[in-house]
Amino acid sequence: MTIETTGTALLPSVRSFLERPKQLFIGGDWVDAAGGERFETMDPATGQVLTTVARARAADVDRAVRAARKAFEGEWSLWTAAQRQRLLFRIGEMIYDHADELAQLEALDNGKPATVARAVDMVWTAELFEYYAGWATKIEGRTIPVSVPWAPGAQWHAYTLREPVGVCGAIIPWNFPLLMAAFKVPAALACGNTVILKPAEQTPLTALRLAELMAEAGLPAGVFNVLTGYGDTGAALAAHDDVDKIAFTGSTEVGKLIVDSAKGNLKKVSLELGGKSPQVVYADADLESAISGTASGFLFNHGQTCTAGTRLLIEDRIFDEFTQGVAEIARNSKIGPGLDPATEIGPLVSDEQLKTVTGYIEQGLADGATALAGGRRHGDRGFYVEPTLLVDVHSSFSVYREEIFGPVAVATPFNADRGVGAAANDTPYGLAASVWTRDIGKAHRTARQIKAGTVWVNCHNAFDAALPFGGYKQSGWGRELGAGAIDLYTQTKSINVCL
Ligand code: NAI
Ligand code: MG
Repeated sequence: MTIETTGTALLPSVRSFLERPKQLFIGGDWVDAAGGERFETMDPATGQVLTTVARARAADVDRAVRAARKAFEGEWSLWTAAQRQRLLFRIGEMIYDHADELAQLEALDNGKPATVARAVDMVWTAELFEYYAGWATKIEGRTIPVSVPWAPGAQWHAYTLREPVGVCGAIIPWNFPLLMAAFKVPAALACGNTVILKPAEQTPLTALRLAELMAEAGLPAGVFNVLTGYGDTGAALAAHDDVDKIAFTGSTEVGKLIVDSAKGNLKKVSLELGGKSPQVVYADADLESAISGTASGFLFNHGQTCTAGTRLLIEDRIFDEFTQGVAEIARNSKIGPGLDPATEIGPLVSDEQLKTVTGYIEQGLADGATALAGGRRHGDRGFYVEPTLLVDVHSSFSVYREEIFGPVAVATPFNADRGVGAAANDTPYGLAASVWTRDIGKAHRTARQIKAGTVWVNCHNAFDAALPFGGYKQSGWGRELGAGAIDLYTQTKSINVCL
């Protein structure tokens, strides 16, 4: 099959990967789905089918859980922390070595610019493996002085162990396919767990390539398993009685379903969900850098970012000038396929997302909003949407309240004397926010007012492997990244010895 591309030619390694048959990765083996079902994955720039992958159902979930349990109880439990460290570090290096290939695969499957996938997704994925490689040897319990007052005269030696949780299911979305796997898999493995990864149905490819690389790196059979499939595969994993933990990133709606299905065996759950993040701009900000920074704050990854800064709250004195500046950047963004190195805005991931995003824009315009930039689908082939900035927006409009997940932001003015906290927090979400000002006191005061898991000052989407990440309110449970993720993938055992 010839894959149609614009711009860069496909690497031979990408061609050969696409030509290899795609199966499920269970217990160290590549196997077909028990029912023999398959589904297509496509290039959102052209709508062309790239390849087909196996469709896992409940029977395959069960098989993967058994393999992951066996590995958890078996050889993997005997690995030392230093062995896990070395292996995770090796995987990180392999991701760097294959970064161009993985970036092209991501561009084909997801639509994002390969240049961005290379510079952001792949570098960060590799770094997360290296970062959690380092943690493997630093997971420590404590010794605790205890008194046990009802046993006078006795002496005690009390300490805690941090033990792995067990078999972990990771269910991830399509917006940063490999990177979302890396938010979960390295931390889980560093702690000694085994993992079953369920990538999104829109973007299964890099998860399968990761499994090949991890096997090549020397990971024992069953420690890491990949099940490609749809929502029902994720649901079967979330409901399975022998899964000890589910880590989910995706919509708030599905997050709530996962909470319901986890209650059968009370498995541990961590959730990283949607957002409607504010970007607060004060009149005293460095306007040039705030205009370009807030524009990329909602346009990065075509707005398909859980932290996208899609509510611009602009101090009234600078509102017109500021929004004109942002609109100009939006209008001038280069729209095109992910493999074209000039592309800034690629296609949305699917026809479904195209319909959702253009539906929101149409509803906003019908409600009375004005499009200062964009406002429509771009072209008639591929799933492109014009970068869109809406003004004249009331806080009751769906474009103001709901996660759109496309290159669309709303801008509303605020009066600094009345404060911006109420407007910033006027959302059921609480994932992230940014504050733009030259006044350092105002920056910190505003950061404290905002109910969100991350607040950036004079930047947006400035993540780091070491910084805890997660949501307030309906944006999630728990914190990924940083030392906090170790809490998600270990449980504490207290041991008290009567001497
Ligand atoms: P989704 O939440 O349905 O899908 C995310 C993952 O969950 C996929 O792997 C999917 O197969 C799986 N899944 C779906 N239903 C499930 C179930 N009942 N049990 C277990 N797993 C299940 O997201 P979708 O439908 O792709 O996108 C819909 C909207 O969700 C987007 O427009 C966006 O607003 C939001 N979203 C937010 C993301 C974030 O990073 N916060 C990522 C992806 C979507
Ligand atoms: Mg869905």
